[in-house]
Amino acid sequence: MKLDNASLDAVLRLAPVIPVIAVQRLENALLLAQALVRGGLRVLEVTLRTPCALQALEAMRAVPGAVVGAGTVLNAQQYQAAVDAGAQFVVSPGLTPALARAAARHTVPLLPGAATASEVMRAREWGLTRLKFFPAQSCGGTASLKAWFSVFPEMRFCPTGGITEAIAPSYLALPNVSCVGGSWPMPEELVAAGRWSDIEQLARLAGALR
Ligand code: 3PG
Repeated sequence: MKLDNASLDAVLRLAPVIPVIAVQRLENALLLAQALVRGGLRVLEVTLRTPCALQALEAMRAVPGAVVGAGTVLNAQQYQAAVDAGAQFVVSPGLTPALARAAARHTVPLLPGAATASEVMRAREWGLTRLKFFPAQSCGGTASLKAWFSVFPEMRFCPTGGITEAIAPSYLALPNVSCVGGSWPMPEELVAAGRWSDIEQLARLAGALR
């Protein structure tokens, strides 16, 4: 059994923001990843919500410096497919026993989602102490994390869902937040228009957040 919180920690410390990406067109994947990494966002989460997601993940792995994970992984089959495509970490919006068992079989670590104290406790029972807090803004935001720090001081979170450049610093200031996730550094209209230098600039601003 391998539940590797230490390797997740190393990933979550690489940048303050993890771009959560839904790749619509495979031909954009490499250019998008290059722009984000040039801007300083090295950790990329590719959500398995579009038909080309696994191919996009594979393409992004070729970018020097990029650490690429798969997001929206809902079951053990998707976990395996993500690992086969080269995912370096796996993110899920919640946690099921089947997914926790899959995480225990794989070397590639899981960052599972939790939105309530009971969900945090269940993840903890599986030895998973690094969690995605999802959906962060609609589930109490920083107030929930402050309350959780009192009762789960060893847990660390990557809040995601509804976070913007303006509110990210209020999360990053919390002792139990490692980094935040969000889609704001790569607005769909900029991706569709191929405005890679604008995305690089947004990534640079996000990467400078503390
Ligand atoms: C998602 O599910 O796409 C992530 O939570 C990102 O959410 P956001 O678009 O609200 O940043």
